[in-house]
Amino acid sequence: ETGYITMDQGYANTGSCVSNITFIDGEEGVLRYRGYNIEDLCEHSTFTEVSYLLLHNRLPTLEQRENFSLLLNQHSLLHEDMRHLYNFFPRDAHPMNILGTMVNAMSSFYTNVDLLSMREHIDMTATRLISKIRTTACYAYKKSIGHPVVYPKKDLKYCENFLRMMFWSPVNNYELRDDHVRALSVLLILHADHEQNCSTSTVRLVGSAHANLYASISAGISALWGPLHGGANQAVMDMLAKIERHGGKIQKYIDMAKDKDSSFRLSGFGHRVYKNYDPRAKIIKKICMKMLEEEAAHQPLLDIALRLEEAVLKDDYFLSRKLYPNVDFYSGLVYTALGFPTNMFTVLFAIGRMPGWIAHWKEMVRDPKARIGRPRQIYTGMRERQYLPIEQRT
Ligand code: SDX
Repeated sequence: ETGYITMDQGYANTGSCVSNITFIDGEEGVLRYRGYNIEDLCEHSTFTEVSYLLLHNRLPTLEQRENFSLLLNQHSLLHEDMRHLYNFFPRDAHPMNILGTMVNAMSSFYTNVDLLSMREHIDMTATRLISKIRTTACYAYKKSIGHPVVYPKKDLKYCENFLRMMFWSPVNNYELRDDHVRALSVLLILHADHEQNCSTSTVRLVGSAHANLYASISAGISALWGPLHGGANQAVMDMLAKIERHGGKIQKYIDMAKDKDSSFRLSGFGHRVYKNYDPRAKIIKKICMKMLEEEAAHQPLLDIALRLEEAVLKDDYFLSRKLYPNVDFYSGLVYTALGFPTNMFTVLFAIGRMPGWIAHWKEMVRDPKARIGRPRQIYTGMRERQYLPIEQRT
């Protein structure tokens, strides 16, 4: 524990948000949660343990981790009355739309949503949300394929329950695989927080008005859905599948991405902060290569992804703009190998990001100096004008 970075070391007074949760060095490709390198956490930790770290700013003792894991299971059921809400969505509703709606609806189904109670019960509400977001997502998936929902099991860990609720059915005795459980846990760790990204800033801005945690998180889910943000992982898979349908020819897409008259961008490349290889993409790529060695079915898309990355990293247009693969470039291939349909990819991002969003909301509502967010603007409109009656207007 080398202690906190002080204000003068940490932030120039740029009006930036001050936070002690996550550190990113975009030039060096460094990512740390509460001071721990992402590589160490992926190697040694679990998503449950990293969620605890983000929420409490310390790694849990064995007893704390067991209790947290138990609480996650105790909170894993969705209020039975909430299940009726799924019937009001069209069959092909996007699961991100369902997720945002259901989380917002939790403000009505669970009490203590005024700020004072939320501050007092934040850890219980956090555990409830981290657990139920998984169940909410699985119910949306089962509804979309017309299958009965699968309830969580008491004796299963977080990712085991998640995979089983997704893929078990009365006629498909889905067997949990340790390598799949581990891969999912690492991917959720890699998505767990990322400083002041678009969706986290949205959660903080909505929360700064003293809106309750469910409403703030629901706003974050909406922001994440955008294809420039968390929606990029689904957009990458759509892009790779399209390239495959066109004979695997990548040059046309690279040329389109460089063409200033085209709005097309290579999904999964570029980042506002990382001007180097996204450290998360490096880890996901390794998992992807290992998993897809065994799952030959998805090899063609992986081959296209590898050729696309190789071509981009040799092209001056991208190198001069420091455009490298980001967290979304390889994640969809791993999710596909785990059995998830593409429209669930951004939902997986949201499930991973949940502890980070809550940690930021908690940090803000507990800061006595926190004020309502109010971005300033540079006005470029008309100078003062006099009102004209309609008959005098031309
Ligand atoms: C995430 O903020 C976070 O931390 C987000 C995230 C997280 O964990 O929360 O990391 C998750 O959202 C990752 C990003 C996923 N999005 C995509 O993969 C969509 C494709 N990427 C781009 O749209 C873009 O790179 C962004 C949105 C990620 C970043 O946009 P910026 O920082 O606003 O960059 P920019 O638009 O200013 O681009 C700079 C230049 C431009 O060219 P010029 O005007 O200089 O000629 O680079 C070009 C852009 O046209 N460019 C791309 C490109 N990304 C940027 N050109 C082609 N393909 C791309 N992907």
